Amino acid sequence: MTETKQDKKPIILSGIQTSGKLTIGNLIGAMQNWVKLQETHDCYYMLADLHSITVKQVPAELRKQTLDVTDMLLASGIDPERSVLFAQSHVPEHSMLTWVLTCNAGMGELARMTQFKDKSKQHADNINAGLFTYPVLMAADILLYQADLVPVGADQKQHLELTRDIAQRFNSTYSPTFVVPEPYIAPIGAKIMSLQEPTKKMSKSDENDKATLFLHNSDSEIRNKIKRAVTDSGSEVKMSDDKPGVSNLMTLYHIATGKTYAEIEAEFEGKGYGEFKPAVADAVAEYLRPLREKFTLLRKDEKMLKAVLAAGADQARRQAFKTVRKVYKKVGFIQL
Ligand code: TYM
Repeated sequence: MTETKQDKKPIILSGIQTSGKLTIGNLIGAMQNWVKLQETHDCYYMLADLHSITVKQVPAELRKQTLDVTDMLLASGIDPERSVLFAQSHVPEHSMLTWVLTCNAGMGELARMTQFKDKSKQHADNINAGLFTYPVLMAADILLYQADLVPVGADQKQHLELTRDIAQRFNSTYSPTFVVPEPYIAPIGAKIMSLQEPTKKMSKSDENDKATLFLHNSDSEIRNKIKRAVTDSGSEVKMSDDKPGVSNLMTLYHIATGKTYAEIEAEFEGKGYGEFKPAVADAVAEYLRPLREKFTLLRKDEKMLKAVLAAGADQARRQAFKTVRKVYKKVGFIQL
C-alpha cells in the first residue's frame, strides 16, 4: 500500500474474532465483501484477538486459531500485497486509544448493546468488564485507522452506531479528530441463519453442531447438515419472511451458484423441498471445497503466515501511532 496523495483511496477497517472456527456466515457476511472492496479501497483487516479473550480461551488454542483465521482470510482472497492484514495484539495503539475512548463512553450506552446482553446470558459464569467495554475497543479499532467504511454483517450494526456516536462526541468535545465511519452491510447475506433454528443467526458458538456450517467442514458434513436443515411448513421454494428456513437455504444456493432468487424459485417450482435441499447441499459443498483445499495447502507454511502478520503489524502501527499521538495531544497529555 505505497501510494501518493493523489491516488489515495477511501479507507476500510474490519475485524474478525479468532475464538473458534469460521462459519459460512463469516464468509458471506464479511470476508467476501472484504475481498471485493480491496479493488477500490485501502483496507486494514484485523484478527481481533484482544476481543477474543472476553470469553475464556485456551491459550495454545487461541494461538493456533489466530493462524487458522489468517490462513482462511488468505485462502478466501485477501491479498497481503494490497491489504494490511494484522493481529490486533501486535498493535498496542488499540489498547492505548481504548482507554481514552472508554473515558468518553457512557455506562448507559454500553449497557444497551444487545451483544453484551446476549453474551452475558451465554457466559453467565464470566461476565467480565471486557465483555462490557468490548464495543469501545471496537470503536478504537475503527477510529485508529480513520476508516471511512466498515464492512460487517448485520449483527455488528449497533456497535457501528456506537462508534459513530463516540467519534462525533470526541470531535465536538475536542476538535475534529476522527473520520466518522459508515457501515457497509451488503443487501444479501448480511445475516445467515442457523440451520436448526432459522430465526436465529448462525453462530460459531452454537451448542448444536448441526446448526452451523463451518468452513473446515468436509463435503459430507456440509451435505448432511444442509439435508437435515430445518425447513418451514408447506413445500414451496419461495423467498418469504414466513419461510425463514427456506429463504436462508435460498441465500446459500444463490451465493454458491450465482442464480437469482427468481431463477431459483422457477427451478424448483412444483418440486418441493425433497429436490431443493440436496441441490443446495451439493452446490454449497462444491462452493466451499476449493477454499478448504487452499486453506490446507497454505496451513503447511506457518512461517509465511507469521511473516504476513509481522509485515501487517508494521504497516498498521504506522497509521495507528499517528492517530494516538494526535489524540493524546488533544486530551492534554504532555508529548514526549
Ligand atoms: P465476528 O468475529 O463475530 O464476525 C466477523 C464478521 O462476520 C460477520 N458474521 C456474519 N455475517 C452474516 N451472517 C452471520 N451468521 C454472521 N456471523 C458473523 C460479522 O457481522 C462480522 O462482520 N466485533 C466483531 C469483530 C471486530 C470488528 C472490529 C468488526 C472487532 N473489531 C472493528 C469491524 C470493525 C465480531 O465479533 O465479529
